[in-house]
Amino acid sequence: MKSAPHPRLQLVPSILSADFNRLGAQIADAAAAGADRFQIDIMDGHFVPNISMGPMFVAAARRATRLPLEAHLMVSRPEQWLTPVAEAGADTLIVHAEATVHLHRLLVQIAALGKRPAVALNPASPLELIHEVLEQATMVLLMTVEPGFGGQPFIASVLDKIRRLRRRYRGDIEVDGGVEPETIALARDAGANVFVAGSSVFGHPSGPASGLAALRQALTRTSRSRGQ
Ligand code: DX5
Repeated sequence: MKSAPHPRLQLVPSILSADFNRLGAQIADAAAAGADRFQIDIMDGHFVPNISMGPMFVAAARRATRLPLEAHLMVSRPEQWLTPVAEAGADTLIVHAEATVHLHRLLVQIAALGKRPAVALNPASPLELIHEVLEQATMVLLMTVEPGFGGQPFIASVLDKIRRLRRRYRGDIEVDGGVEPETIALARDAGANVFVAGSSVFGHPSGPASGLAALRQALTRTSRSRGQ
């Protein structure tokens, strides 16, 4: 049977690591350097031990770029935030399976808002939590750090979970956390095709364009070595 084409590789800077004093310029720099879309990390200080940003940051990012925006809802009551985040301009809404007992309803509600529904799993959460909703999800985010903070090390044990998911799911598989030149090819080889990167892009000493170039080079270098 002809296998489905592998989904396109995409780089997604997370603005959590951007310089908030010049957020618009940082987004513009990353967009000009070939970012495919941006992730806005919404945290409520309850689902994760940090408070970051809300729908107003989605609206600010919306004014700064025409690229697609994805909102990563690291919040305990995601149902409360679907409409405000959608109205602020997010194109994809990512909800955590661990944050609700009504995951199917949440994904259907996101689609009803005209947005792309996506579901996220923390590193210790089994794929079984999302098996019944893979049809509703345009993307699955497998966290490669415990959510809440940028700059954490990549959890390599998630690679096997990526491989197992790719065997049963042809949609976008996104990884998020500790994605840098040393880890991005491992995630791609395991089957991920969407890569969220915060500190390796906005924390790069030469700026986001260099950060994105280093990630792209790491993917190209290993593709050549794999004879692709
Ligand atoms: C963590 C956030 C990630 C984070 C990634 O809770 O969901 O998007 O910003 O940051 P890095 O790439 O620095 O690990």
